[in-house]
Amino acid sequence: MQTTQYLNENKDRFLSELLDFLRIPSISADPTHAADMTTTAQWVHDKLVAAGADKVEICQTAGYPIVYGEKMVDPALPTVLVYGHYDVQPVVPLELWITPPFEPTIRNERIYARGACDDKGQVYMHVKAFEAMMQTSSLACNVKFMIEGEEEVGSANLNTFCIQNKERLKADVVLISDTSMIANDVPSIDVGLRGLSYVEVEVTGPNKDLHSGVYGGAVANPINILAKMIAQMHDENGHITIPGFYDDVRENSAQERTDMNQAPFSLDEYKKDLGVDEVWGETGYTTLERTGIRPTLDCNGIWGGYTGEGSKTVLPGKAFAKISMRLVPNQSSEKTTELFSNYFKSIAPKSVKVEVRPHHGGDPVLTPTDSIEYNAAAKAMEATFGKTPIPTRGGGSIPIVALFKKELGISSVLMGFGLDIDALHSPNESYGLFNFYKGIETIPHFFKNYAEMKK
Ligand code: BES
Ligand code: MN
Ligand code: MN
Repeated sequence: MQTTQYLNENKDRFLSELLDFLRIPSISADPTHAADMTTTAQWVHDKLVAAGADKVEICQTAGYPIVYGEKMVDPALPTVLVYGHYDVQPVVPLELWITPPFEPTIRNERIYARGACDDKGQVYMHVKAFEAMMQTSSLACNVKFMIEGEEEVGSANLNTFCIQNKERLKADVVLISDTSMIANDVPSIDVGLRGLSYVEVEVTGPNKDLHSGVYGGAVANPINILAKMIAQMHDENGHITIPGFYDDVRENSAQERTDMNQAPFSLDEYKKDLGVDEVWGETGYTTLERTGIRPTLDCNGIWGGYTGEGSKTVLPGKAFAKISMRLVPNQSSEKTTELFSNYFKSIAPKSVKVEVRPHHGGDPVLTPTDSIEYNAAAKAMEATFGKTPIPTRGGGSIPIVALFKKELGISSVLMGFGLDIDALHSPNESYGLFNFYKGIETIPHFFKNYAEMKK
């Protein structure tokens, strides 16, 4: 039987299985979901077994488990390591969801649920494409699956797992579907991912919350101070003021910049989609450049004092913020965190004490377009979309990808099928049925092309 025929005959079952996957609330950031994480790992394990994988194992880590499985058809064939994640982001603010995040619903040909696109929907395309290749005896490469449960919290334990399992993870290429395309009729492949430094800061003023009338004006307010310190981290040109921050940023040639601005993009639509009258960013760069090739610093959350109903007159003792920096080649996550930390401490006035706690991070990635894996993916998409994909630079991060190269010596190819409208990490995340099925259809082409091009 032909793979396409097998896919067509099993479409509905593939979808209903994905909906089961989406019903399990695998939020890695929230410890109250620890049991759901185990359930999800077991679910992925069972589906890999059912699809025909061997040596399927739930590998325990210091955090949530990693699901491994493989099918070695012939040692002479190349091996593709499929990486993805079964964990999802938190769902707050819950009241903004039209239908509950873990009760997947289909509207307008789209699946609405947390994780629909990022990354359960995309992971499941690989499981089903593998099943189809097994059932039609057309698996053209050896395959290894490594599906983790901590991507959304920085993949710290996967780092250790990779370093300890170098032999088991031996492969020629890592294939990942966890990124987006420009549009359904404008396929694209990310050739870059930004790195990340993520820190939490704590600013302490007086040793307790005070009456804001009795003490206000005479004692530093940590929230006021923190707000000013954060504001100080950009100058009037949207440049980050941390000394040395840009030292390692790779210069992009005029040609590269021209090429990247050739990608279809409408600033008007972008603004309309987001409900903003104007965009913001570093002077001298376009919006595509600002997310693709330039580093950033953003406050992700800020709190302190009284935020409940009504008003309470209080001069708070502490203020906190979570701050992320997106990094580009050749910045280092570790070095950037240190630069931030030193600067943040240096600009704090004597009236407060500050602490910086590093969270997770990952280094940026840039992959060439003249590689076998890029061309195998481009040709696969060309076959199913009828158009050559455009190479793009993604703004998001997948922290482990740089480590695959550094520790395992394996390059990755980012053949993602999401869209910007999928609302990753936002309320009402969704994934197009078109994209889910197109992914399943495209993946076997990658295997076939890769095996042929590797010969
Ligand atoms: N799948 C995303 C990353 C992504 C999305 C890359 C779209 C390119 C295009 C991934 O799950 C993600 O959200 N990563 C986090 C990393 C973090 C939590 C350590 C991110 O980018 O914020
Ligand atoms: Mn993801
Ligand atoms: Mn994500």
